[in-house]
Amino acid sequence: MELFEALTSRTSAARVAAPGPSPEELARMLDAAAHAPDHGRLRPWRLIVLDDALRRAFAEAAIAGRRAREPASTQDQLRIEGEKIWRSPTVVIVGCAVDRNHPKIPEVEQVLAAGAAAENLMLAAHGLGYGAMWKTGPAAYDAGVKLAVGLQPTDHIVAIMYLGTRVK
Ligand SMILES: Cc1cc2nc3c(=O)[nH]c(=O)nc-3n(C[C@H](O)[C@H](O)[C@H](O)COP(=O)(O)O)c2cc1C
Repeated sequence: MELFEALTSRTSAARVAAPGPSPEELARMLDAAAHAPDHGRLRPWRLIVLDDALRRAFAEAAIAGRRAREPASTQDQLRIEGEKIWRSPTVVIVGCAVDRNHPKIPEVEQVLAAGAAAENLMLAAHGLGYGAMWKTGPAAYDAGVKLAVGLQPTDHIVAIMYLGTRVK
């Protein structure tokens, strides 16, 4: 796909389904993400592909987080919280591991670099014919969720990227 066509035709896919990208396609997307601009070559992004075990860990932590934030949550609300991470065949968490003691590169620039990686990932998915939806929400700011996917509580989850064949 031509670059400007890709840039101007990308829209979010509200719903995606199987099939997701093949391992080779996903590797190309992750490679494109890792070519984002990055002040100081810190490569602060963390591209975490969730396998089933990580999805289960994410779901459990998201439920626990919701219960702690909103103790009055019903069983149905907690169940839905845990189901969200299963709504696409492929999920990539774009994290940002921040170096807070860096003498030159402020945190905001590191987060911006991770955001650029997320956008590259989206565009690469689009270029390969897949739908993508960039989400965050309260789970993305939850320390337990971050730990569950291998990040530190002081890191950021910049995107929960849902990838698959566009349904809507
Ligand atoms: C950092 C970031 C976080 C977002 N989080 C959410 C989210 O949690 N839920 C949601 O519905 N849309 C979220 N969005 C917006 C959608 O990804 C999407 O960009 C928006 O619906 C506009 O649609 P479009 O991409 O087709 O223009 C987020 C966007 C960004 C950049």
